[in-house]
Amino acid sequence: MSLAIPARDWFKPPVGAEKLWIGLALLWCFVMSLMMPYWHFRGKQNSRGEAYAVKPAAFLERVEKFIAATKVGERKLGDFVIPIAEPAPGGDAYLLGRMWSWSPILKLRQGETYRIHLSALDLQHGFSLQPLNMNFQVLPGYDHVLTITPTSKGEFTIVCNEFCGIGHDKMFGKIIVE
Ligand code: CUA
Repeated sequence: MSLAIPARDWFKPPVGAEKLWIGLALLWCFVMSLMMPYWHFRGKQNSRGEAYAVKPAAFLERVEKFIAATKVGERKLGDFVIPIAEPAPGGDAYLLGRMWSWSPILKLRQGETYRIHLSALDLQHGFSLQPLNMNFQVLPGYDHVLTITPTSKGEFTIVCNEFCGIGHDKMFGKIIVE
């Protein structure tokens, strides 16, 4: 008894038409790579990269001062009661990520511009605004300033998209635009 030997090496069949698809996939890789710097300059949902060093405790103090000056109510979000803050149009607003909440809830006006200071108290969190899908890293020690102008009304949910421990999946926040 003997094994039948295949007529040709099955492991190395001729490439043929696959060359075309490999070429198209490579071309698309280049297009997507070029889109990254293009959108960095032309996109309207990018950070300007404005950031400052800040001690987490000092940032917390600023957030508490901001909430005391602008609080218009509060709302239960998951396990937490979160204050609602309404900053002055054109003014500064603060948003703090910590295990496991975003505070305060920001109440903004459509068409007005705000400077939102974003930082974390304890460890790295991920700011992800849904359903717009705007995403920023939030790190303790960095006051990241986002200059934003809401263009549509509604309630937007902030989820944490950086794993930050046992309560990560319940770390929600809100931005309300009126
Ligand atoms: Cu904060 Cu995950």
